[in-house]
Amino acid sequence: MTQRIRKAVFPVAGLGTRFLPATKTVPKEMLPIVDRPLIQYAVDEAVEAGCDTLIFVTNRYKHAVADYFDKAYELEQKLEKAGKHELLEVVRNVIPAGVRAVFVTQTEALGLGHAVLCARPVVGDEPFAVLLPDDLIWNRGPGALAQMVDLAQATGSSVIATQVVPKEQTSSYGIVATSEFQDRAGRITAIVEKPSPEEAPSNLAVVGRYVLSPRIFPLLEATAPGRGGEIQLTDAISALLAEDEVLAYRFQGTRFDCGTHIGLIEATIRHALDHELLSEAAQGFMRDALSELGVLDVQ
Ligand code: G1P
Repeated sequence: MTQRIRKAVFPVAGLGTRFLPATKTVPKEMLPIVDRPLIQYAVDEAVEAGCDTLIFVTNRYKHAVADYFDKAYELEQKLEKAGKHELLEVVRNVIPAGVRAVFVTQTEALGLGHAVLCARPVVGDEPFAVLLPDDLIWNRGPGALAQMVDLAQATGSSVIATQVVPKEQTSSYGIVATSEFQDRAGRITAIVEKPSPEEAPSNLAVVGRYVLSPRIFPLLEATAPGRGGEIQLTDAISALLAEDEVLAYRFQGTRFDCGTHIGLIEATIRHALDHELLSEAAQGFMRDALSELGVLDVQ
């Protein structure tokens, strides 16, 4: 896989029921972390990793995602007239020049594997990335996907982001078994979707970043419904192991599971604490709130 990785797939067709009632009208990918919607963080990570074609797999309720990435003529004109050039840049850079967005519809909610398969006509026969926007990965250095793309290009292998999770949480993740790690990567020898702690081959969990060989597509086509009756990406990756080297990669960075309430809150706090203009106020507020609760003893 020495080919450049140019295409990134964002499966965004989920219903986001966990965040109801907010997600009754706002797709969960549009929930903000400070001032940017969740999807923007994943898009920025893909663009930073060198992707120039962003493929959003949506459903018919997700107009807000398409609208967000569309050009906002009236808004841009108003900002320009008002001389608000910084804001204008922010709005224009939602998708930087030279990067294109393509929207593909997943007409039936048949699972993550099926969503990735829907992107096949746009991806074609080249290696590509998959980013699940729920998993927000925060890092001061290069983003998680950029790290993985480097490894994929150096080794020619598919690469999957992983992190160690508590054993009792294995049933929330794809779980891998690997050969011994060299530095941050180890060859995957088995992968199972959401096993119980007793069945899990390890506690190394798949996080929502993948760099995949296009060989995954015929395997996805042949994949029968698995866990939850859905076509699982994990099952197709399991079949890929017989043909190709697939590496588990322990990325540098902190992952927030923004598919859960606490993950979304943690990501918001982390980003506020790191924000140029908000950091001080956020720290002060947290100190006050925690001491008010009596959990932090501060002078
Ligand atoms: C999906 C994948 C799972 C992976 C997880 C990472 O599950 O199926 O293998 O570990 O993303 O976030 P989901 O969280 O969409 O149920």
